[in-house]
Amino acid sequence: MSMEITPVKKGEEVHFHNPVIDFFEAVGGEDGMQKLMYSFYDKIYESDIAHFFPQDEDEFHKIKVKNTKFFIQICGGPKVYENEAKDMDLNEFMIRLHDDFSITEKSRIEWLGTIREALNELQGVDIKLIEDFWNYLENFSKLTVNSFSDGSTYYAAYTQVKEDK
Ligand code: HEM
Repeated sequence: MSMEITPVKKGEEVHFHNPVIDFFEAVGGEDGMQKLMYSFYDKIYESDIAHFFPQDEDEFHKIKVKNTKFFIQICGGPKVYENEAKDMDLNEFMIRLHDDFSITEKSRIEWLGTIREALNELQGVDIKLIEDFWNYLENFSKLTVNSFSDGSTYYAAYTQVKEDK
């Protein structure tokens, strides 16, 4: 299965489309998404980006729950994250939420590598659907990178985000 990572370029337009609902259905709906995201977050705990996340178990658990809700909704499932997004577009809200953390390309690659491990453990899901989900993650994650190797910061404007339908 091809789950490649292409480099982020500061200030570039990022094209992406939200995952197709077929992926959500194929993983097993809300329960399946929870399994996938809990598995991902358990791996995050063991990863090089663990320090970004709360070390307190209860706080970490809360992030797991919210993260699961976001992915249920962004994949076309029930709107269980709606209240968190404070009336903002879901993707715009998600970009701004990451502004609070200094995210580099290296951290993005670790994040993607970690979720790729969880995706590789899925059984019985059509590769094409996994790739579609991956494309969302790979592109969208570029918008969370705000700290660059030359020491500069850059916070992606929502206007440079192109949602391809
Ligand atoms: C496709 C890209 C990404 C998506 C869709 C995504 C999604 C999310 C979601 C849904 C949450 C929980 C939001 C909430 O509290 O309601 C979250 C939190 C977070 N994400 Fe991401 N994320 C992405 C990329 C990244 C990357 C590359 C990093 C790199 C380190 C990262 C670091 C974090 C951190 C540190 C938190 C918050 C933890 C806290 O509140 O203490 N994320 N993300």
